[in-house]
Amino acid sequence: MIFTVAIDGPAAAGKGTISKAIAARFGLAHLDTGLLYRAVGARTLRGFGAVEAAEKLQPDDLLASNLRTAEVAQAASRVAVIADVRSALTQFQRDFARREGGAVLDGRDIGTVICPEAEVKLFVTASAEVRAQRRFAELQDSGSETTYEQVLADVKARDERDMNRAEAPLKPAADALLIDTSTLSIEDAVAAAAAQVEQRL
Ligand code: CDP
Repeated sequence: MIFTVAIDGPAAAGKGTISKAIAARFGLAHLDTGLLYRAVGARTLRGFGAVEAAEKLQPDDLLASNLRTAEVAQAASRVAVIADVRSALTQFQRDFARREGGAVLDGRDIGTVICPEAEVKLFVTASAEVRAQRRFAELQDSGSETTYEQVLADVKARDERDMNRAEAPLKPAADALLIDTSTLSIEDAVAAAAAQVEQRL
């Protein structure tokens, strides 16, 4: 079976949680494509060139422990505007999307650029304030000393960069289902996503 679920949306909208739940429920493989950009961004913080880092990326690089920090998130969105970085990461994502057994990919451009033929496309969003509150709680849990105001400013800066770049800007595919998690519980958001998948399977 070839079956792709494309889940796009801005930072901390709930893509990761929904993707993991859908993958587990339907027995699909899951790729968090943000980790590819985070791994490249992390390399640039250590002085490597972005394009070379993307071309040489290895699966093990996605397991590095520092990839979830706010600093790496900003570095990821800075390397993500570079066309050669994106193209170096494209084939791996396309192969993953069309792998036998089906796959869920979450990111910014899965339904628009990586896999426009995806059987299910979701665009998960929420207000910047709700997203910043969630990310702030996650960062606090992981021991980071930051403030809500700082996280909100970071989320807005990343949204701005992701939506306004020339290459693969963040936007919903024309045929994506919009899921706004500002007021939905995680259970309801997962249920809405699962209903779409069930309908297409
Ligand atoms: O987890 P969060 O939503 O905060 O971010 P992420 O999904 O890990 O993505 C980090 C950054 O990578 C984003 O801000 C984008 O700039 C970039 N990215 C991208 O350009 N395309 C993707 N398919 C995934 C991430």
